[in-house]
Amino acid sequence: MIYLDYAATTPMRKEVLHAFQEAAKKYYGNPSSLHDIGTEANEALELCREQLAGTIQGNKDGVYFTSGGSESNILAIRSLIEANRKKGNHLITTDAEHSSVHNLFKQLEEEGYEVTYLSVDGGGQIDLADFQNALRKDTILASIHHGNSEIGAVQPILEIGKILKEHQIIFHTDCVQSYGKVPIDVNQNYIDSLSVSSHKIYGPKGIGMCYINPRVNWKSQYKGTTHEKGFRPGTVDVPSILAFTAAAQMMHQEMEGQRRRDLHLRMKLVNGLKELSNQFVVEGNDDMDKQLPHIVGLSFLQAQGQYIMLECNRYGLAVSTGSACQVGQQSPSRTMLSMGKTVDDAKQLIRISFGKMTTEEQITQTIQTIGKVLKTLQKINLSQLNWL
Ligand SMILES: Cc1ncc(COP(=O)(O)O)c(C=O)c1O
Repeated sequence: MIYLDYAATTPMRKEVLHAFQEAAKKYYGNPSSLHDIGTEANEALELCREQLAGTIQGNKDGVYFTSGGSESNILAIRSLIEANRKKGNHLITTDAEHSSVHNLFKQLEEEGYEVTYLSVDGGGQIDLADFQNALRKDTILASIHHGNSEIGAVQPILEIGKILKEHQIIFHTDCVQSYGKVPIDVNQNYIDSLSVSSHKIYGPKGIGMCYINPRVNWKSQYKGTTHEKGFRPGTVDVPSILAFTAAAQMMHQEMEGQRRRDLHLRMKLVNGLKELSNQFVVEGNDDMDKQLPHIVGLSFLQAQGQYIMLECNRYGLAVSTGSACQVGQQSPSRTMLSMGKTVDDAKQLIRISFGKMTTEEQITQTIQTIGKVLKTLQKINLSQLNWL
């Protein structure tokens, strides 16, 4: 099977697995325990906090460990808005966020907050003039993702950060897809809070980080919790954190080289597909400064993404539709809807995402496989696809 779904999750790399095994043997102590075994685990934990803070030019006091991207988003946003509620009742986000953010904002509306949902343009980016217009005196926080999980578009976080800083509005950004792929500097971009997930960067699943600028107030969601200064309850998983830190460091060391490889693979894939067919559109941005090159969103004009994805799977190629789906019932991509596409068009998306282990040969085979799928499509009567 060729795996081209690295944006969904990545396999743990062998060095990280080794780091995990060693850490599990050596640092099994509870970092909250006062004896030497606990103290050693705590020292290792604090070193990881410092090293991870260094990857975003942040302060170690702002690093909180969580179960991953979703929990980081939820806890960061809730903790920040509740601590700053006196400022008002208004929040801003986009309607192209990951479901963990989107569902939270829907819930917050039910709880009485007013939310402005910004749409994205044809390249997947928000319009900065729309964004400026959405700001209000009572806006507490804006949550705008960095890299889009469905099509890989990158938001202009520097411009967004500057505008929010001028208006003293808290800036949270979901960096789950962009972390380790492009440099992120919390100070330069005026980021108050961000989310990262270990399993997207060849680290273990079930661990992630939330960064909150130590100068920004937040309110614990768990009364009486002492772990992670009250940010998240539960004994901290030091071995997973050590493995996550090792993965993060390797990602940052290899970032530039990997980006060059990803750009090359993207070009090879897109050009190869163009030679086969003109029945698809490459979603996202043509300008690679505004795009994560390893995420390729493709809309096939003749069929739903789910059909293409399942057919690719039959031929041994693992890709994704980018959005949650169940057999026979694909939900439209929220990013595509936000771009102004119809519901039918928003169901045509598939997402191909490469990673460290992707080879040129695999891209060649991918082009051939998609070619076969498109050929079968031409043969069948499209009315047979109504069930999709
Ligand atoms: C942009 C984005 N945010 C958040 C998440 C959730 O991360 P996790 O799986 O660690 O909860 C994902 C996962 O796909 C994502 O792509």
